[in-house]
Amino acid sequence: MKNKLLITETILRDAHQSQAATRMRTEDMLPALDKLDKIGYYSVECWGGATYDSCLRFLDEDPWERLHVLKEGMPNTKLQMLLRGQNLLGYKHYADDVVDFFVKKSIENGIDIIRIFDALNDIRNLEQAVKSCKKYKGICEAALSYTTSPVHNIDYFVNVSKKLEAMGADIICIKDMANLLLPYTAYDLVKAIKSAVKIPVHLHTHNTAGTGDMVYLKAAEAGVDIIDTALSPFANGTSQPCTESIVATLQGTDRDTGLDLAALNDVAKVFKPVADRLLKEGIINPKVLHADANALIYQVPGGMLSNLIKQLSDQNAADKLPDVLQEVPRVREDFGYPPLVTPTSQIVGTQAVLNVLKGERYAMVTKESKGLLRGEYGKLPAEPNPEVVQKCIGNDKRIECRPADMLKPEFEAYKKEMEKYYTCDEDVLSYCMFPQVSEKFFKAREEKHKRKLTVKVNGTEYNVEVYDSAYTAPKTAPAPQAAAPAAVQQPTPAPSAAPQAAGKGTPLLAPMPGTLLKYKVNNGATVKAGEAVLILEAMKMENEITAPTSGVFNYVAAEGSKLNTKDVIATIG
Ligand code: CO
Repeated sequence: MKNKLLITETILRDAHQSQAATRMRTEDMLPALDKLDKIGYYSVECWGGATYDSCLRFLDEDPWERLHVLKEGMPNTKLQMLLRGQNLLGYKHYADDVVDFFVKKSIENGIDIIRIFDALNDIRNLEQAVKSCKKYKGICEAALSYTTSPVHNIDYFVNVSKKLEAMGADIICIKDMANLLLPYTAYDLVKAIKSAVKIPVHLHTHNTAGTGDMVYLKAAEAGVDIIDTALSPFANGTSQPCTESIVATLQGTDRDTGLDLAALNDVAKVFKPVADRLLKEGIINPKVLHADANALIYQVPGGMLSNLIKQLSDQNAADKLPDVLQEVPRVREDFGYPPLVTPTSQIVGTQAVLNVLKGERYAMVTKESKGLLRGEYGKLPAEPNPEVVQKCIGNDKRIECRPADMLKPEFEAYKKEMEKYYTCDEDVLSYCMFPQVSEKFFKAREEKHKRKLTVKVNGTEYNVEVYDSAYTAPKTAPAPQAAAPAAVQQPTPAPSAAPQAAGKGTPLLAPMPGTLLKYKVNNGATVKAGEAVLILEAMKMENEITAPTSGVFNYVAAEGSKLNTKDVIATIG
């Protein structure tokens, strides 16, 4: 009996996210779209995860425009995205109205299948996204975040699968982000879930530890319905196993994928020069291309491993990688065994980096670590270490309910906050997810559509800026027909630079490289020792920095400035 194994191609999302810090550009993808569309994949994963953030943060691209281009280029293939449940694509919980609207817009703009997961497998965090996906007629793939720990066994995952099916999922996904799933366990797990639920089972793994192909082969034997693979130029290592290899392996068997190797080879050729370029630019670290047993020992997902390497080299501490890899499982145990997947992988990873770099465990605790311990991300799989809880959050109240139940509708408030950049509702969603990054992106976008003109009015020359007609100018910006005195750009006062090296006193030094996001106290305010005075963004996490001593607080660095370790941020005198 033929039982075709279906393939989801990940080259446009997870493959380059895992190997190349999500730096593939839309223009790199364009020449491949028609060929990808003709392969006959079950779906092409192409959006969500870090692609959205990377578009705005590094590539100066609108992620929604990318989605339009992909839909247009692949009209016959189902487009798949990854969604972090109630966190959407960000790192915190959003109110239900934002989740609903984001899912609606994603489907409206071209997404067919939404894979929804929660880092903690707290299914209350999937409820709203699943409901909205069904409501807007998307295909809902509910995922289990696979991990191993004293509490995570086959019964645990079967139990969660049944609940997800009952919740309305169309497909169950086993999401093995770290290639922790071993081939024989994969066989047992797929068998167990297949016999417990009626809906198809989709398996996602990586080849970080070099067992990915064997995992897929055993899962295929156990009857898995769909698997995720990546075309050869971005396959293996921290990415997915290679599409061509699996297709060739199963040819002529009862799990034959039906895909054409020559056609796959033809698409792969388009991506080869892209991979070569990213390697030459140093974006792809050759380390992530090889099997690495650390993934099995330290349970570090592909994306997380390449992030840790990058974070540490940014901090000039690349030699600390082995220490950090030792620290990760300790932090994880302290935090109640969360699976390591975004955002918990970042939270645990960054906390491990801080514990190592500071030379004292939990001397500096990110806002996100505190939130995780307070239950703000959902229920932890096991009880966290009470001593660590005490050290990190003291006697703060811990949350028992679904975290989003405490949030009032928030879309309109976000919209109001970013109104001066608003061109469409999708902009608001970008802003919800990545406020600072989006603001920078919106400003740059505005600049791009501006033209500078000099006009003469009554003999006086004015410099004016006008928008090109293809751009819907934000409300507060000069109108497009601006070649009149009314549109003359008022000279804007220079940004209120903080007084440089103000006064004497105890200097407050940057504990690590990062960006001074904002001060929490006014310039000249009197602060108490231990009071949170500013937020430093380091490694994409917000860190509250506290005053080392009491006194009058004077700004030295301006908000938004990039800081190196030991740069003076402020003085306290
Ligand atoms: Co993955």
